[in-house]
Amino acid sequence: MTDHGPRLDVAELRTLFLFESLDAGQLAWLAEHGWVEHHAAGEFAYVEGEPASCFFVLLHGSVALSTRVQGDEVEINRTEQRGAYGGATHAYLGDRIPQVYRNSMRALTDAEFFVLPAETIAHAVRSWFPMAMHLLEGLFVGMRNTQTVVGERERLLALGALSAGLTHELNNPAAAAVRATSVLRDRVAGMRHKLAMIADGRLDGRQLPTLVALQEDAVKRAADATPLAPLAASDAEDELADWLDERGVVAGWDLAPTLVAGGADPEWLARVEAVVGTGYLETAVRWLTYTIDTELLMREIDEAVGRISGLVGAAKQYSQLDRAPYQVVDVHELLDATLVMVKAKIPAGVRVVKEYDRSLPPIAAYAAELNQVWTNLIDNALGAMGATGTLAIRTGRDGNQVTVAISDTGPGIPAEVRPRIFEPFFTTKPVGEGTGLGLDISYRIVVNKHHGDIRVDSRPGATTFRVLLPVAPESVRAGS
Ligand SMILES: Nc1ncnc2c1ncn2[C@@H]1O[C@H](COP(=O)(O)OP(=O)(O)OP(=O)(O)O)[C@@H](O)[C@H]1O
Ligand SMILES: [Mg+2]
Repeated sequence: MTDHGPRLDVAELRTLFLFESLDAGQLAWLAEHGWVEHHAAGEFAYVEGEPASCFFVLLHGSVALSTRVQGDEVEINRTEQRGAYGGATHAYLGDRIPQVYRNSMRALTDAEFFVLPAETIAHAVRSWFPMAMHLLEGLFVGMRNTQTVVGERERLLALGALSAGLTHELNNPAAAAVRATSVLRDRVAGMRHKLAMIADGRLDGRQLPTLVALQEDAVKRAADATPLAPLAASDAEDELADWLDERGVVAGWDLAPTLVAGGADPEWLARVEAVVGTGYLETAVRWLTYTIDTELLMREIDEAVGRISGLVGAAKQYSQLDRAPYQVVDVHELLDATLVMVKAKIPAGVRVVKEYDRSLPPIAAYAAELNQVWTNLIDNALGAMGATGTLAIRTGRDGNQVTVAISDTGPGIPAEVRPRIFEPFFTTKPVGEGTGLGLDISYRIVVNKHHGDIRVDSRPGATTFRVLLPVAPESVRAGS
């Protein structure tokens, strides 16, 4: 082993906290198998992903640990503590896991390490600390299971938020379309019936072309009609009902609301009367009411179905199911899709204020995951406010970063709680209400995955979570 570098003597080995409880024989054995290795500033002691062949203990100098996230090297720790270790730390697990370096260690200054081959440290742990070995194994497997559970929970949370918001939002237009369709079926049946009466000769067939022309006009009016305010509408209905009543049309009050909604007024009805004659007025008005009614119902169905496909579009935008996970996006599209999804959760007493800086450049992002961040932050804001308050969503720019600020007017985050809010499983909500994962997940998405930042500013009545995200590199280059 000495061809690797000089040995470390037993007395010095004993001064490293990892080895302080070993007996003389064990220390001698380690000293014999290990060696001292020097790395100049900037050099890697070991690199993530390569076969984990050695265990490193820092003797002096300063080092940085880093890990790769989406092709970028992210520093996770730096230290100059003598005895700090890294490298083949899982060697004792043998072939139960892939034995590769899980991070990289780089010397920041000239640094010196005591290095042991992976087999040596594995053998030492297994044979000298058999009980610790079992505990470590348990810990490792336990952690891995926890990570799996947390990962699943994350996906479920996202899916849950999505489907709960969506089903609620889809319900109204779907119910409206179903209802309008069934009324429409009645109206169409009514029109068939009227047609049968014409064929029977009970209605003068010669009036038909005139009626059809009036019908076309009614359809146009109904399509162009803008809904009246309730009070104005009821005045107009009274006026029409009186007009019909004066001309002996039975149950004019029943027809008036539809006629008014379709944009008919006494002047228009007078034209109808002039064309068909007073004797046919009632028949004509009933026929035209059917026409207007079907037109309005079809418009209702059109709107409901349009709303449904809009929602499905927002859900697609929100989940990004059919999109590349990493893409260049306009942050406002994401915010709007998220707002549609959470709309059902926003109480009537909460005002939503959007202040978007539409001149913002796009960002390169994991869009679906950012949507989860907005969802979590909005969820917290709503939770803090209860039934009344203002939820504000503002976008802006800070140097090469896009900022999204989500503010609420709730009671704020108490000073003693503030340092812990990003911890996984930290929650002040009653058992069963919060998992305490919302901010932990958001932090990991923003900071680890997007190299952005989340900042909090909170006092009673004003809490703001500000998310900073780097703008897409293309936009930076373009100088926008
Ligand atoms: N806008 C806010 N106003 C006041 N307190 C907040 C706000 N946002 C977060 N907090 C505090 O931070 C804690 C942690 O938030 P986090 O989103 O991580 O978990 P949670 O909301 O409790 O549960 P979950 O999000 O999993 O349902 C909350 O329990 C709450 O005490
Ligand atoms: Mg939360």
